[in-house]
Amino acid sequence: MNLPQRPRRNRKSQSIRNLTQENHVTVDDLILPLFLTEGKNKKTEINSMPGIFRYSTDLLLKEIESCLKLNINSFCIFPSINNKLKNKNASEGLNLKGLYPSAIKLIKQHFPEAIVMTDVAMDPYSSDGHDGLVKNGKILNDETVEILCEMALVHAYAGADIIGPSDMMDGRVGAIRNALDKKGFTEVSIMSYTAKYASAFYGPFRDALDSAPKFGNKKTYQMNPANVKEALIEAELDTFEGADFLMVKPALSYMDVIKQLSDNFSLPIAAYNVSGEYAMVKAASAKGWIDGPSVRDEILLSLKRAGASIILSYFAKEFAMSKK
Ligand code: PBG
Repeated sequence: MNLPQRPRRNRKSQSIRNLTQENHVTVDDLILPLFLTEGKNKKTEINSMPGIFRYSTDLLLKEIESCLKLNINSFCIFPSINNKLKNKNASEGLNLKGLYPSAIKLIKQHFPEAIVMTDVAMDPYSSDGHDGLVKNGKILNDETVEILCEMALVHAYAGADIIGPSDMMDGRVGAIRNALDKKGFTEVSIMSYTAKYASAFYGPFRDALDSAPKFGNKKTYQMNPANVKEALIEAELDTFEGADFLMVKPALSYMDVIKQLSDNFSLPIAAYNVSGEYAMVKAASAKGWIDGPSVRDEILLSLKRAGASIILSYFAKEFAMSKK
């Protein structure tokens, strides 16, 4: 054949493939989500997330230390709260001496160089299992935002570097930015869960925190999986309200959303490779149906290719270990 272009020339050896590789994943791109629980010397595996544990504060510090040695520097911490402390107003979430702010404080004392991101939403503390305040079966927006602002301040006092509102209430990014600035926390960043979809991929996470909604679902605040234009509206609002990062969640079924946001907005785009996405890979890999580590690397790379510059992933540590 007389072919002037033969694309296979650029694939002929590993060296030439390296030379022409368009996207790379590095440990610097990753944020590792970690689960915190009460007690001492406690580490319990989450059934639906093999290799992922709930740690008591002392062991969480050890885990973070071992991750820092692998050059993972950013962590998103989620608290598992005793059911007895949950109520309708999620008041334990505003307790400055509670499990979560105390742990954040200790992490920052021990490892000031670590980036600690916190999750702002009511669900870990809510007896209704919802991200907002529930009245007569409805999720109240503006009243919830007031609570979220107080929660963000508790996290900022504890030393959080990045506040991650994961609740999807309207106007919360601007309100939290305002509340932080008023108290002098102008250096605390906000990573907004900008396009967070009402997804079945969060199942294992809700097992981990025992935080599934007690009635109904989250569809009046989390986005409809059918929509992408709506994500552009959310991104515009978050940018305008003062977000520092825009996040898309889940990641794998929403790569078009990641791409759209990265094409249309200049803020860094983060993708949350969620619990169900992790669990599927682990389950198929345990059955010998796929090569887990290769699938993991392909997933992370594909998220970078789609336009995410930051990836939150439960795979972060094993990815970092595989690079050592
Ligand atoms: C709660 C929250 C959820 C996740 C992060 N923050 C669950 C939910 O909205 O029900 C999901 C993370 C994951 O599945 O890995 N606001």
